[in-house]
Amino acid sequence: MAKLNKWHGTAAVIGIDWGDSGKGRLIDDLSQNANVIARFNGGSNTGHTVSNKFGKFAMHITPSGIFNQKATCLVGRNVAVNLEVLIQELDSFKKAGVAFKNLVIDEQAPLTMPWHILRDGIREKVRKSKIGTTGNGVGPTYADYTERVGLKVIDLLSSDLKEKIYNEAEIQNKFFNLKISPNDVYSKFSKYSKVIKPYVGNTIQIIKQNLQKNKNILFEGAQGYFLDIDAGTYPFVTSSNPGVVGIWRSYDLHPQNLDHVIGITKAYTTRVGSGPMPTKMDEKTSKQIIEKGHEVGTTTGRIRSPGWQDLVLLKYAHEANHLTALAITKLDILSGQKKIKLGVGYKLNGKETTYLSHSSEFLENVRPVYEEFEGWQEDISNVREFERLPKNAKKYIEAIEKFTKIPVKFISVGPKRGEVIYV
Ligand code: GDP
Ligand code: IMO
Ligand code: MG
Repeated sequence: MAKLNKWHGTAAVIGIDWGDSGKGRLIDDLSQNANVIARFNGGSNTGHTVSNKFGKFAMHITPSGIFNQKATCLVGRNVAVNLEVLIQELDSFKKAGVAFKNLVIDEQAPLTMPWHILRDGIREKVRKSKIGTTGNGVGPTYADYTERVGLKVIDLLSSDLKEKIYNEAEIQNKFFNLKISPNDVYSKFSKYSKVIKPYVGNTIQIIKQNLQKNKNILFEGAQGYFLDIDAGTYPFVTSSNPGVVGIWRSYDLHPQNLDHVIGITKAYTTRVGSGPMPTKMDEKTSKQIIEKGHEVGTTTGRIRSPGWQDLVLLKYAHEANHLTALAITKLDILSGQKKIKLGVGYKLNGKETTYLSHSSEFLENVRPVYEEFEGWQEDISNVREFERLPKNAKKYIEAIEKFTKIPVKFISVGPKRGEVIYV
């Protein structure tokens, strides 16, 4: 199989954990080869870090491929669009000299409105068992969308935008006991709409045209498969579909049209917010990893809790998404560990089991079965060829491949573009 930096056709990047796996940097690396980069799920809860010649950016709505100045970048139909965040992003591109004339935001995408952010906060406050949302109003945006009451990007272009905002604000005030001024919202959104108008379009047609021309299309997922609203550890999940289903929902594209499905995760794993993680590290190792790996949320600044890599979950994500390749990030952060654990099974009440149930309670109760590996002490951040990795690092990667039967095609050893081993 060819190296991943030579990919062509259609490729999807899917988080196969609880998010923050390095999707932004992988997309930035792979987008060098893309004609189209298409974000397909989530909203401003997302924080995809990109570090390249233009600077360091935390991407929330815009595809992480925007730095390929020739490519078209799409924000899909199922992305929750927070205009304030998007406009801030566009301003940061202007400052850094990054052009974004090829950006298209789908006209059907739901808008995150000020009342969604307020409702997210209120709901979290009264919840007995807190989810630890990012507070971006993404859950309430999708709730209104499925209830068929929310505003969409296309409403920004309509002559009755004022009426729509006033109506909706009054209903939200009444039902959720809010004190939102419809006029304040309208005056903000009428300004936003002027900025956004040139970028509104039909992204599905763009995907279809590019498919017909055999162009290279890269789909960018947000979050990770175990935060999926359906497949994740409900209720400690997000409100969209980070797996291949999300591509279908945004772009009407059947998964059989994907030539590459790249599952991405760190050499260990992390979780931020509430919810179970069977392979949680002990306190001492946790501290080391948080410090060395800067495990602090891109969007919220919260500490991410580290765990050992969990192959039971990884295999499950593979079964559901048919991964063709694995991308393993932050291998450099494991340098210096004496022993490295790899979760290879679960036990429930002393008996071997697997990921049988998506209930959070089930994952709270299982105990991980580990295989233990000798660590390596060398700094690997300058390594660019698999063969040059320390013997124990190679053994660790090969064990992941052997267990999952998925080829590891991308190993990153630093946060910047190019700090990568293409296997
Ligand atoms: P995303 O949400 O999946 O895009 O991931 P985030 O950007 O939220 O978190 C990943 C963090 O790890 C960011 O701070 C990246 O700059 C950083 N990062 C990504 N890959 C590597 C790597 O290989 N080594 C190191 N040291 N840092 C990395
Ligand atoms: P990226 O794309 C990590 C988590 C939150 C919380 C749960 C629900 O950067 O990987 P939400 O705000 O979506 O209602 O929060 O999901 N979460 C993320 N965790 N990375 C993300 O995005 C996340 N987006 C949401 O911490 O537990
Ligand atoms: Mg992130």
